[in-house]
Amino acid sequence: MTMDKEKLPLDKIFLGNCLNVLKELPDGCVDLVVSSPPYNLGKEYEAKQALDNYLREQTIVLKECSRILKQTGALFWQIGAFSDRGMLIPLDIRFFPIIESCGLIPRNRIIWARQHGLHAQNKFSCRHETILWFTKSKDYTFNLDEIRVPQKYQNKKHYRGDRKGQLSCNPKGKNPGDIWLFRNVKHNHEEQTIHPCQFPEDLIARIILATTYKNEVVFDPYMGAGTVAVVARDWERHFIGAEMDPTYHQIAMRRLSGEPDENGCFPNFKTLRNYVERTGEPIDKFRFDVQIGKRPSERSKAKIYPEEYHLQEMEERLYYEEAAFAADLRGEERPVDSTLNGKGKKTPEKTQVARSADGPKNQQLELDL
Ligand SMILES: C[S@@+](CC[C@H](N)C(=O)[O-])C[C@H]1O[C@@H](n2cnc3c(N)ncnc32)[C@H](O)[C@@H]1O
Repeated sequence: MTMDKEKLPLDKIFLGNCLNVLKELPDGCVDLVVSSPPYNLGKEYEAKQALDNYLREQTIVLKECSRILKQTGALFWQIGAFSDRGMLIPLDIRFFPIIESCGLIPRNRIIWARQHGLHAQNKFSCRHETILWFTKSKDYTFNLDEIRVPQKYQNKKHYRGDRKGQLSCNPKGKNPGDIWLFRNVKHNHEEQTIHPCQFPEDLIARIILATTYKNEVVFDPYMGAGTVAVVARDWERHFIGAEMDPTYHQIAMRRLSGEPDENGCFPNFKTLRNYVERTGEPIDKFRFDVQIGKRPSERSKAKIYPEEYHLQEMEERLYYEEAAFAADLRGEERPVDSTLNGKGKKTPEKTQVARSADGPKNQQLELDL
């Protein structure tokens, strides 16, 4: 059964369990499902049992999500890293066959990498989460031109042949690839609300622009602070979703309204700045929920970097860390990077690796840095 778009509950976030909302939606009615589910793994000592229960519940939700997708539709499921007393539970690996069993076809396993996070002591610190992209059929939307990013070598030209002198790369930019470095919504991020794990809006914009057209319908069963709804609305798509927690549901509604509450307060800094830019009211009349300082600052005075900047910064940082590690292995002086290492101060000597005179220092290392 399909339903006319006019009869769908468009642009609504229901307060309640997503399964109740899903059951009311007809087959094949949405173009995109994008979400990050709760982890819900229960207490540590019952993790295995809780994990099985959790995955069973997720299977029911995913089957429903698959049912409501149009034949041309796509599903993006963002799954965090989970660790139980130091033991890794690679949730995306568990989710992969579940989503396949819903009849969907895998397209990408996107790595969402971060520079910062908890520092582990007994294993490598976790610095990524994953986003699984599946489509309902082979006939799906991928608007690459909408989401291209700048080429690394923008002016590179063919140096021989028929196209000599012409640009050898696409001047519109390149495919962003499957490693994404959007900054986590924490610590002074303009979009931060009281919700502990929000999507960055730009990450959702990339997904929505790549896989939908204007006026199409985006569904998020776990709306949290309403990021998917806000971005869908801003890019002239419709949204439908659910959020079970009344506090988060309220945050989402306040973000969507864009107006101050009765105390002159906004759910985040971004909504407040948008409001004063739209209305011309003075910013110091208002506050936002996670404000620490005395007075919010105008956006024009803030240092806000595009997401591309974070990608470049992380690439440079990783490159530098590996060069420093290679220098340590060889017993050479560490490189100094004036932009990345504080204000050009020398990196402290590495103290922990003791080397014998004829140890690794004298070996030929094949590190190509
Ligand atoms: C990982 S958060 C989603 C955050 C969201 N992506 C954002 O940008 O704010 C998961 C959310 O799902 C909600 N939730 C958990 N179980 C639910 C259910 N059965 N139905 C609807 N919402 C649920 C939680 O309250 C939580 O806010």
